[in-house]
Amino acid sequence: MSNLAKKDNPGILITGANGQLGSELAAILNNGYFSGIFDNISLFLTDQSELDITDRDQVISFVTGNSIDVVINCAAYTAVDKAEDEPEVCMAVNRDAPANLAAAAKASNALLIHISTDYVFDGRGPLPYNEDDLRAPSSIYGKSKEAGEIALEESGARFLIIRTSWLYSRFGNNFVKTIARLANEKDKLEVVYDQIGTPTCAEDLANAILVICRDYLLWSTTRDSFPYGIYHYSNEGVCSWYDFAVEIVRLSGSKCVVEPVLSEHFPSRAKRPPYSVLDKQKIKKTFELKIPHWKLSLEVSSGEYLSSNKIVRP
Ligand SMILES: NC(=O)c1ccc[n+]([C@@H]2O[C@H](COP(=O)([O-])OP(=O)(O)OC[C@H]3O[C@@H](n4cnc5c(N)ncnc54)[C@H](OP(=O)(O)O)[C@@H]3O)[C@@H](O)[C@H]2O)c1
Repeated sequence: MSNLAKKDNPGILITGANGQLGSELAAILNNGYFSGIFDNISLFLTDQSELDITDRDQVISFVTGNSIDVVINCAAYTAVDKAEDEPEVCMAVNRDAPANLAAAAKASNALLIHISTDYVFDGRGPLPYNEDDLRAPSSIYGKSKEAGEIALEESGARFLIIRTSWLYSRFGNNFVKTIARLANEKDKLEVVYDQIGTPTCAEDLANAILVICRDYLLWSTTRDSFPYGIYHYSNEGVCSWYDFAVEIVRLSGSKCVVEPVLSEHFPSRAKRPPYSVLDKQKIKKTFELKIPHWKLSLEVSSGEYLSSNKIVRP
């Protein structure tokens, strides 16, 4: 990638900035871990109270009015089971709001980086999913994220869709924190072993997004040649939720025993893909990214809040 800056003071908008991924992006940028081009950015961190992305007029006037060059959409409706009972709200945030952001990005000639999910797949295939595989979501949440992807594809805006899976972070509520808390309270836990995927450390994903964002801002030739499109990002490796829980409990120092059970043991409102490993060759090759194994990232990133006497309760 080239070193030629296109604009002295690029504007970056992060929506959903109080969520897991949004908070990780904000922490990295605010701590100045990325030097160089990000020293001079105008950074706009918004959540629903500052910028409700379902409000089309507000979104368009915010993006155009603040000379935004890159929108990173971390806002989403992420309550997978609850979505089955309130599909309209879920669709408004995950389908209609990305369309609003795409319209705003198009009007401003900005790049929209949008986050999607492994739940756009039905999970019945035997191999890791690549970006061109057929979407076939089996839940309202998955359908809403699929509809958001389609809205971007039909918008005429410049976009990157990054699908990720099993996201966790020191910010917000997630599987890692729940298992660590339960392991501290109970002698035995039952966790499903027939859903296979890959955890994603939100800090790793945030770093990857900022590498891509930097490449975009430094792109030397016409922006038309930038490799827009769909990408997959999770940590490396493959595991079940059971394997993931065993590792969390081990790192927490708890003596709690984790037992493998079938998904039917925990009936849930939403159907989840049984196998949703994402193939990451495209993003690694295109942006020269190195992705850590999920076990390594869990150990490194969660060290400060996983040890048994330092569990952070949501
Ligand atoms: N979490 C996972 O395991 C997972 C897995 C695969 C893909 N993803 C995708 O990864 C992305 C980031 O997920 P995450 O876990 O970081 O999400 P998150 O922690 O649930 O954060 C989402 C944020 O969006 C905000 N939001 C909701 N509705 C909004 C609206 N109308 N306008 C503006 N902001 C709004 C939420 O604010 P409030 O809290 O105030 O509602 C929250 O701060 C999402 O696109 C998600 O679909 C997540």
